[in-house]
This record gives sequence, structure tokens and C-alpha cells, in this order.
Amino acid sequence: MENLTQKIAELGKRRGFFFQSSEAYGGVSGFQTYGPEGAELKRNIEDSWRNTFSRGLGHREIQAPTIMHEPVFQASGHLDGFDDMIIECPECETSSRADHLVEDNTDINEAEAFSPEQIEGLIKEHDLVCPDCGNSLSDVEVEDFNLMFETNIGPGSGQKGYLRPETAQGIFVEFPRLKQYARNQLPFGITQIGKAYRNEISPRKGLVRVREFTQAELEHFIDPDEDKPDISRVENVELLLYPVNKQEENGENYVEASVKEAVNEGIVNEWVAYYLGIAKEWYVEIGVDMERFRFRQHQPDERAHYASDCWDAEALIDGDWIEIAGFAYRGCYDLTKHGKHSDSEREFSVFKEYDEPETVEKTKIEVDMSVLGPEFGDKASEIAEKIERKVELAPEVAEEGPIFVHLDGEEYAIDSDTVSVKKEKEKKTGEEVVPHVVEPSFGVGRTVYAILAHSYYEDIVDGEERRLLRLESEVAPTEVAVFPLMNKEGLGEKAREIAERLRDYGFSVKYDDSGNIGKRYRRQDEVGTPLCVTVDYETFEQEPETVTVRERDSTEQERVRVEELEEALIARL
Ligand code: GAP
Repeated sequence: MENLTQKIAELGKRRGFFFQSSEAYGGVSGFQTYGPEGAELKRNIEDSWRNTFSRGLGHREIQAPTIMHEPVFQASGHLDGFDDMIIECPECETSSRADHLVEDNTDINEAEAFSPEQIEGLIKEHDLVCPDCGNSLSDVEVEDFNLMFETNIGPGSGQKGYLRPETAQGIFVEFPRLKQYARNQLPFGITQIGKAYRNEISPRKGLVRVREFTQAELEHFIDPDEDKPDISRVENVELLLYPVNKQEENGENYVEASVKEAVNEGIVNEWVAYYLGIAKEWYVEIGVDMERFRFRQHQPDERAHYASDCWDAEALIDGDWIEIAGFAYRGCYDLTKHGKHSDSEREFSVFKEYDEPETVEKTKIEVDMSVLGPEFGDKASEIAEKIERKVELAPEVAEEGPIFVHLDGEEYAIDSDTVSVKKEKEKKTGEEVVPHVVEPSFGVGRTVYAILAHSYYEDIVDGEERRLLRLESEVAPTEVAVFPLMNKEGLGEKAREIAERLRDYGFSVKYDDSGNIGKRYRRQDEVGTPLCVTVDYETFEQEPETVTVRERDSTEQERVRVEELEEALIARL
């Protein structure tokens, strides 16, 4: 018996949702092409996301390049920390993701949280073997494998570049321009829908783990001391939560709480909870089944290097919980790193003006270079800088005996008389604040996949098995299909005329006159078209003219006046 994953893969190929790319050349694992139905479904999901998370919340969308040069990823931490654990079979040379090997063959979930040494121990303890050739992996080393695709920018060896592993970095590096655009006012949100690339060790399950995928990300820049989310907007939205403490208990014990309760009881950070609420409502709207949906908190060891808290939206498909989005509190990690690495810290902060200027006392440190210069020559200014830093941290050192500083492995004793420390009063009109970042990050392909899996049904109609996708009309590739019962005696012309009219009105419409009518209904059921309009002989027999409107889920048909068709379809959609 086929499982749901196989059924979706089969439907994906047969009906043009998604399939292995470049199949004619044998294909390469981790790359999928969206066919006409899939591309339309994906586009509708992206538009719906845009309406909810970008326009709907007053945020603005950008498009940054997908290739970025090396310093960006040195700063972001991806060069050092964006690794998965790999184990290579010495016999057949197949590489496997070591944590997945453990998860797939033991009772352990979330093995990603373990270190390579712990995973090595578990592989030995459970005597795990290569999934391809069955050779024992007990004594094989588990190593870190960086997931970024590397490339060269420009001719020759050029500059080293990487395909971005998340769209987020394209937003962070542009912060200096974006804050100008936002007139230096926090909070503001920037969104981006675009491709991200990860050289996954073992791509799997169609759209679930691929090497090129689309993300829809929102980076909300906030002042951590002042900005609060508008919880009232989502306070009563009910959440099914799986916090870390419940994951440590036996069985799947969830917390059911409204957004307001989750915040008040300290289960979820208020900003993250706000976005969980908005996301939950959006998932309902686009057809993710709430009976197969939860929010799971990351274990501390599982969190990405930049996140201080993170919750995933997970959809249950074929008994596996699949992460379809992540909601991270990234704090000031990214902007601080880019500020430091690009040597432009002020560009990555926002000047926050006080309501009233404040008078502050400032310590002014001066080192007498007329003494240091002759004594230390070209080392004098470096020594002076070190003295200033030392006195700034502990002003009392300037009052007692010599000040000791170290430079190039040597110790220098400087007479404290060469340093003067003065307190001066200064008017301060504001301060530099490094914004914190709240990040809802959605995998578009995984959302497509979850919707396909959750809307897939089989039933019996007229004694025959039927497969259908109960897609919400908001995301369905086609809203209305128009058929002539037969393509003769003017039925085809009339049906074409109606299809044109509906298209002009703004519906997404498919016209189909091939094969028998039953088959045409089945085809539309399988691609999730909510309504079919059929022109038949009765159309011309009645005055005014009528057509049948068939509803996908119930298969019920009703006669509707052609002149009132648009209103009738809108009411049903
Ligand atoms: N900027 C944060 C970030 O990238 P992530 O959890 O690594 O966070 C966000 O990725 C989402 O992108 C995931 O929840 C998932 O839906 C999607 N995603 C990640 N890796 C993927 C892959 N290899 N194939 C398909 N989707 C993926």
C-alpha cells in the first residue's frame, strides 16, 4: 500500500505539481521543478504570505542577490557554524547525515542537538549500518560538514562567494540603507521571498529537504527596551505548544494556550508569540490541517548559532513532524556582527533621541605623547591606546604607581604621571541602539508540500474511487474550470465565451473540452479546482440561459443563470 508521501509524489509527477529536475539526464538529488500546477500553487501561497506578513503588517519587501561574498558569511557565523554532521561509509562511500541515521534507527528524536562525539557513541552503541550497503558504521568518524555552496565571483580565481543559505543575510547587510529608508525609526520590518541554497547531505522526501528552495522571511527590527507587539490583535488565537519541558516528559504532552496565556505564563517570548498567532491564522486560511499541526520549541543545543529562542511550526505527514517554519528571536546577534566585521558599527545601529537631553559625566583620558614618543618610538601610539583602554575600564590604575601594558609579548611599565584623567559634563541628546531582530522564517516548498498532504483525500463517487485535493480557493491553482458537455452544436463556443468572461472578471480559469465529462471532473478534482461550470444542452433550452456549477468536495451540482454566474461563483468560493 502506498503511503501519503508516495501518493503525493505520484500526483506531483502525473498532474504537474513537482518532480525531479533534469530527469532526462538522470536528475540530481535535491533539485525539484515545480510544474504548471505546482508553480501556480506556490505563487498563490507566496502572494497570500505577502498579503499577511508584508503588506498586512505594514512591512516592506526587498530583493537582494542570492550570491554574496565571503566577508558576509564570516560575519554572520555561517562559515564557522552552519554545519550538519556527516558520516561516510568506508565501503561504498555513501555519505549520510549522521543525526538522521540515529533518528531513523533508534527511539531518539531531535538528534541534531547532540555533538558529533555523542552521535558517534550512539552509532556504536546501536551498531548502526550504512543505509545503502549495510556495512557497519560503528568505528567511523562523524564530522562537521558546512552546508554552503561555494563559488567564484568574477574571472580567474576572482573573489570567493557563497550562495546564500538564508534570505535573511540579504536583509541584514542592507541594514544601513534600510534604516535610512525607515527614517531611523524603530520598529520596522523587512520581508523577502526568494531562493536559498544548502548543500544538504541527504536530500529527501520531494520538496521537504532540497538543495535549492524558496524562503519567505520577515526580519522585524525592534528596540528591545521600548517596542511591544500588538498582542491584542491575536490574543485569543489558540496555540498547540510543545515547549522544551514537555519534550523531556514521556509521550507527547502539549500545552494548549491562547497567545495571551502563552505570554502571561512566560511560555513564549511576547514577540515570538505574536508571530505564532499571526502564523496560526494564516495556516488555517491556506489549508494546513490544525489536527496535524503544532508549534515546537527548540532544545537549547538544537538552536541555530544566532537564536536565543526558537519555535518551529510543524506539520504531521505520514507520522513524521516536519518543520515548515521557524520563529526565532535573533537578538542583536546579526547587526552587531555585521557592524564589527564591516568596521561600521554605527551603520548597524539606530540613533535613539531622548525626549529631553541628559547631562552626563564623561571621563576624558589624555596620554602625554611628548613623553611616550621619544621613549617608545613607533610603538608609542599603540601603547597609548592600550593605556586609554585600561584606564577607561579601571580609572583607579591612573592614580597608583606605574600602569602595565602588554604589546607584542612584552610588558611596558608607564609612569602614571603621563596620564591625565578628567571628568567633564556633557549634554547627551540620545544613544546608539543596536536593534533586536524577531524573525518568522517560512519554507515555501514545505508549505506547498504540507498543503498538498493535508488536502489529499480519497472517496468513492458513482462507484469509482476518486482522489481529490481539497485546496482552499485562495491557493488553488485554478478557481473555476469551464467545460462544454460536448464540443459541438455551439456548446464549445458558449463555454469558451463564458471562460473568457470569467477570466476578464478576475477568476483563474481553465477551459477543457477533451475526453468525457466524468474524466474532466476527476482531473480538476485531482488538482484541487473548487468549482466546475458546464455548458450543456439545457443551457440553450432555458430562458435565461443556465449552466451547471459543480462543487468539488460534495460533487453537488446546481443550475445557475449565466447572467448571475460571477456572483454565484464568488458566493461558493
Ligand atoms: N533565517 C532562518 C532560517 O533560515 P531555518 O530554520 O534554517 O531558518 C527556515 O529555515 C525554513 O526554511 C525552515 O523552517 C524550512 O521550512 C525551510 N528549509 C530549511 N532548509 C530546507 C531545505 N533543505 N529544503 C527545504 N526547505 C528548507
